[in-house]
Amino acid sequence: MSQSDLLAALRPEAREAPGSGIVEVMSYGFGRKGLIPLWAGEGDLATPAFIRDAAAASLAAGETFYTYQGGLPELRASLAGYFARLYGKPFVPEQFSVTGSGMQSIKLAIELTAGAGDEVVIPSPAWPNIVAAVGIFGARPVEVPMTLGNDGWKLDLDQLFAACGPKARAIFLNSPCNPTGWTATREELAAILDFCRKRGIWIIADEIYARFSYGRERAPSFHDVAEEDDRILYVNTFSKNWAMTGWRIGWLGAPRALAPTIENLIQYSTSGVAVFMQRAAIAAIDEGEAFIAEQVARAAAGREIVCSALEATGQVRLSRPDGAFYLFFAIDGEPDTRRLGLRLVDEAEIGLAPGTAFGAGGNGYLRLCFARSAESLTTAAGRLVDWLERRAGSGR
Ligand SMILES: Cc1ncc(COP(=O)(O)O)c(C=O)c1O
Repeated sequence: MSQSDLLAALRPEAREAPGSGIVEVMSYGFGRKGLIPLWAGEGDLATPAFIRDAAAASLAAGETFYTYQGGLPELRASLAGYFARLYGKPFVPEQFSVTGSGMQSIKLAIELTAGAGDEVVIPSPAWPNIVAAVGIFGARPVEVPMTLGNDGWKLDLDQLFAACGPKARAIFLNSPCNPTGWTATREELAAILDFCRKRGIWIIADEIYARFSYGRERAPSFHDVAEEDDRILYVNTFSKNWAMTGWRIGWLGAPRALAPTIENLIQYSTSGVAVFMQRAAIAAIDEGEAFIAEQVARAAAGREIVCSALEATGQVRLSRPDGAFYLFFAIDGEPDTRRLGLRLVDEAEIGLAPGTAFGAGGNGYLRLCFARSAESLTTAAGRLVDWLERRAGSGR
């Protein structure tokens, strides 16, 4: 069989899974000396030592065997305690299943709710992996465009509800949102919950950026308005709060009755997360509040640096994001941001993600990650401002 025949013999949903538009620019710019990379969704701080030490101690103690598929009881108990503190109501360990990343939690949530012939409704722009994961399971993503107005990004709830046809099995809501920073209000969450209760539709709530919410301790959550027996699956991860992107560990929150089913699905995919990683995760949760506060303060300062610098140019359209750690902005007269991302690598020595990677709602925008040191963001913003000035000078 030729290589192309082999490819043709695959399941179409697997073969046709889209490549990531973020990776295209990253591959182009990787290894460029002096380039400031703001394209990926991670900060520049390594995982704190107390978390790394917990993993090392576990390995040194020989904790190298198979373990509980749904997660160590101690970690699930830590998660329940963390959520009780954050949301001011009780949780039980069985509401938390430990996964191999936020990405695996997304796949599990979709696998649990939608398959061939079903639809999942997703506000757009959205993190590209969400739409891709829906397609891989044979379901159809239905994108609902959000708009950037004078008072920031807006999701029109009537449009969201109108997009939920008879085949809709779930609404996937990411708040605070990657890439826009849009953060649903408590009232919006209550209205979405009310609609989904009436229609019997699942909510997949990706609240991984809940702690990155500017001017308050955390973003509003479905936990504020829902009961445990609502049809809600909560995607979450250790990646962002505790600077653990490279570790690959997250969790899926769900009503406790679902725990055995989720455990089964984990059994038939990764079969669980390594014990040493889970020990590190326990340390992160139990001792990591000061580190989260430091990261959020850095991101808040970073947001101020990039937004003020770009606003002053008068050549960009942006709204200060309420949450997450990205600025999603448009440059006047530059609609082709796929090409622009590549050009900025060459012409401004900065790496930004093209908005085209985030679905139809992202065309014409660029995403910049500001979870970095003030120094590097000041330099990066300066390079972009210089580039804009050169462009204005050349009459483009
Ligand atoms: C909205 C959103 N959900 C989930 C994830 C997955 O995180 P991870 O797989 O690193 O745990 C990301 C990562 O960038 C994200 O932005």
